[in-house]
Amino acid sequence: MKTLKLSLFGTAAAVVAIGLGANAYAFHSGGVAECDGCHSMHTPAAGGSFLLQGSDQSSTCLNCHEHAGDTGPSSYHISTAETQLGAGVSPLQRTPGGDFAWLKKTYSYLDRSGATVTEDGQVHGHNIVAADQGYAADSVNTTAPGGTFPASQLACNSCHDPHNPNRRGVDGNISRTGAPIVRSGSYNNSVAPVAGQAVGAFRLLAGAGYTKGSVTFLGNPAAVTPSSYNRTEATTQTRTAYGVSTSGGHETWGQWCSTCHPDMHSTGNYAHPIDQGMGSSLAANYQTYVASGNMTGSSATSFTSLVPFAQNTGDYATLALSAQNNNSVLTGPGSTDQVMCLSCHRAHASGFAEMLRWNNEYEFLTINGAYIGSDNSTSGNAHLGRTSAEWQSAYYDRPATTFATYQRVLCNKCHAKD
Ligand code: HEC
Ligand code: HEC
Ligand code: HEC
Ligand code: HEC
Ligand code: HEC
Ligand code: HEC
Repeated sequence: MKTLKLSLFGTAAAVVAIGLGANAYAFHSGGVAECDGCHSMHTPAAGGSFLLQGSDQSSTCLNCHEHAGDTGPSSYHISTAETQLGAGVSPLQRTPGGDFAWLKKTYSYLDRSGATVTEDGQVHGHNIVAADQGYAADSVNTTAPGGTFPASQLACNSCHDPHNPNRRGVDGNISRTGAPIVRSGSYNNSVAPVAGQAVGAFRLLAGAGYTKGSVTFLGNPAAVTPSSYNRTEATTQTRTAYGVSTSGGHETWGQWCSTCHPDMHSTGNYAHPIDQGMGSSLAANYQTYVASGNMTGSSATSFTSLVPFAQNTGDYATLALSAQNNNSVLTGPGSTDQVMCLSCHRAHASGFAEMLRWNNEYEFLTINGAYIGSDNSTSGNAHLGRTSAEWQSAYYDRPATTFATYQRVLCNKCHAKD
């Protein structure tokens, strides 16, 4: 049964790449999928529980969400197989959440004193436990920083509800029961249900009432993404339109992440503001900032997916207008649009420490017009063990010329201190 499923989806994979609004070739279709895709009634994986197809929960998901035949970004895949990750080779997927295989990329380099420093792969993101694909729990963070959720229990289904009953109806509210779910609600071509129908919650994320161990989620965050979202950003950007809503079964992105990180970056702590309006001067910075020292831009062309913000709306039709992958909508934030956790972090993993969207471990992203790689003769030992090509892939393939010749960290997109 397991083999049958995998071959079925192996062939379906290419077809599913775009147009996920339609039901054909989909699997979850915004809600609980065909049980057999994840469970096997009589031949589950040895040693597993819940009659799952894989040895554990995340291995079951990665049965389909990782595919060893990939040669580049491929539809709904969010992990590159270990066999494809040689030295100097970066993970292949370019989804908004990020490729978990960055967790397997450990880099070594010499620091300014000549001592060898190792940047352990596990600092690049959320270490899900997936024995079949070689992912293990984080050995340093034993719980979620700023919270108590145990790293040993972190799985795909800690954040995504595999049987997701959350549905968004015509009124825009999310509930666990109601009109039947007809398709995904994540995409710019799938957001609007008609009367008597509902669509799934964004990315099947855990919503109100979903409990894992000691944490219970209180709502779903609002967002819409382009139907083709796993793609190089070498020439055009993939813009997920994150929203803000706290009504009708919703919570903000900051509240959602804080389910497991309650003391992280929250009010009253030592923390950067989140879920807070940009204000007019920071919004103006974002709109005019092009690159270090260059403040000649305008709002209409200012968006970068390396520093996204939450649009101050919970209206999915409005969000869908910005959820584009062809640079047709690059409008920057207004003063009430918000900085949020995902302005700086990705949700799964990234090519940078702390799962950030850019390298924050050194003052420059580029030196002398090129990435700070080991092959850039002017970068000294700032390369942190990567070649320029490896840095470029971590920026979703953007050429170094996207930036200033000596580009400083992207905190400056909002703060313009450079
Ligand atoms: C996308 C994968 C996936 C699909 C599809 C799926 N399940 Fe599950 N199921 C899981 C996972 C993962 C668990 C383990 C949950 C946990 O760790 O608590 C689980 C656990 C369960 C459990 C035991 C725990 C509980 O929540 O009650 C039942 C019963 C169950 N599934 C029934 C079903 C049925 C019936 C279907 C089809 C209508 C289905 N599942 C489809 C992934 C899936
Ligand atoms: C049998 C193959 C298969 C398995 C197993 C599987 N998926 Fe999927 N997944 C798909 C396909 C195909 C798509 C794209 C079509 C769709 O969304 O129905 C997808 C899409 C998704 C999406 C995006 C959906 C949206 O509406 O935005 C998420 C999130 C996701 N899967 C999570 C999971 C998680 C978590 C598990 C394990 C509990 C899992 N998947 C197990 C095949 C699978
Ligand atoms: C810490 C929470 C968390 C965990 C753990 C997690 N996800 Fe996600 N996932 C998210 C969020 C949040 C998004 C939306 C990201 C965005 O749009 O910026 C997402 C997006 C996705 C998508 C859409 C493509 C993308 O990357 O944007 C898929 C498919 C998916 N997840 C599958 C999985 C699978 C499979 C696992 C386990 C191997 C997993 N997720 C583990 C939070 C999580
Ligand atoms: C279900 C619980 C859960 C949710 C929800 C969750 N996290 Fe985490 N997070 C963890 C755990 C557990 C760890 C520690 C294990 C690790 O670092 O791999 C962690 C670690 C992190 C780290 C440190 C990663 C590193 O490389 O050291 C960051 C940053 C982070 N989370 C950000 C977020 C953001 C942003 C969100 C919302 C999109 C989020 N988390 C949602 C459980 C969660
Ligand atoms: C303005 C950018 C920014 C925002 C917004 C932001 N972070 Fe961070 N976060 C960082 C940076 C930079 C680091 C790494 C170094 C540090 O702690 O200063 C970090 C580190 C972390 C860590 C790892 C801490 C550790 O001890 O290992 C976690 C967990 C985390 N952030 C979660 C979150 C969550 C959850 C949110 C939203 C509630 C959030 N961050 C919002 C920039 C940000
Ligand atoms: C998406 C926009 C955005 C990004 C990116 C961003 N910030 Fe901020 N930052 C804000 C906003 C909004 C405020 C609150 C308004 C203000 O203080 O002017 C703020 C406030 C601050 C403050 C003042 C906090 C206080 O309590 O007074 C510091 C310091 C700061 N940010 C540092 C950083 C650093 C360092 C980074 C990069 C790791 C960063 N910011 C990235 C938007 C951003």
